[in-house]
Amino acid sequence: MALVTKKKIGVLMGGLSSEREVSLASGAAVLKALVDLGYDAVAIDVGRDAGEQIRKAGIEAAFNALHGKFGEDGAIQGLLEIMGISCTGSGILASAMGMNKIVSKTLFRAYGLPVGPFMAVSRGDREALRTAEKEIGYPLVVKPSSEGSSVGVSIVNGFEQFEPAAKLAFQYDPEIIVEKYIKGMEVQVGILGERALGAIEIVPKDVFYSYKAKYEKGGSEHFFPARIPDEVYRRTLDAGLLAHRSLGCRGYSRVDFIIGQDGVPFILEVNTLPGMTATSLLPEIAQGAGIPFPSLVEEILRLAIAG
Ligand SMILES: Nc1ncnc2c1ncn2[C@@H]1O[C@H](COP(=O)(O)OP(=O)(O)O)[C@@H](O)[C@H]1O
Ligand SMILES: [Mg+2]
Repeated sequence: MALVTKKKIGVLMGGLSSEREVSLASGAAVLKALVDLGYDAVAIDVGRDAGEQIRKAGIEAAFNALHGKFGEDGAIQGLLEIMGISCTGSGILASAMGMNKIVSKTLFRAYGLPVGPFMAVSRGDREALRTAEKEIGYPLVVKPSSEGSSVGVSIVNGFEQFEPAAKLAFQYDPEIIVEKYIKGMEVQVGILGERALGAIEIVPKDVFYSYKAKYEKGGSEHFFPARIPDEVYRRTLDAGLLAHRSLGCRGYSRVDFIIGQDGVPFILEVNTLPGMTATSLLPEIAQGAGIPFPSLVEEILRLAIAG
């Protein structure tokens, strides 16, 4: 098979966010796949001097394996755009909107996607916490507006837990989101190109899909395809693709849902740079859809170079 490009590729990984460790694992897996396929690829552990690093490495294309702040929020995408280097995945605006749960949920709602009740709360606004308690009620979920990997996320059952949960979330972000707790099955949809590849079901061993449940061995069980009726499955795939499109995402993404009791897929978020280790969820969905990991990596690269 011919290579998608002969250009030198930089696999951007690590970085400065709270998801650094996860990104190093994604980056190592992507780099190995690219090198095994015959690509001229090098690792770049992105620091504050990203521009200098990228210039020195002499790369002509970037495979973005970063997660979280600066990697997933449009910052590195902007830098690469200025430098004239094509990059895998979504562009500046889609990345920035996808990273912010308040902005993206507002947009999902405008597109008619099922979104549970939520409220934005700014640091220092104690009054807003009381309003959220009244309007949303318990149990509720508190999260930083712009984090990932369940960092700073808490399930709250009463006011005595609400304040500490808010305090924790505010450590990561001056703005937090308070959501109604949705009871149901966690399902995630993998998008590649303009296609929903499938939906995987997650059964966390923790009270929710926490950092531990995500990354510790045996932290969760996965079922592909998700064990839901055909009609609900199709509806969830459609919602995943609509969410991807509503943000204007490019290349690939993974969309998180909770399927409520009546089969309604409530959207949680779009991950514009989902985990890319060989055992991460998007690769597992792709595998289930007949696309092995190296082909997934190559297709993501092709979509960036062709687009
Ligand atoms: N509204 C909610 N109802 C029930 N569980 C939720 C809700 N929001 C988040 N969770 C739990 O927290 C996890 C992380 O939330 P998510 O919005 O996907 O943020 P992150 O970017 O940290 O992955 C979810 O996978 C789910 O287990
Ligand atoms: Mg998530």
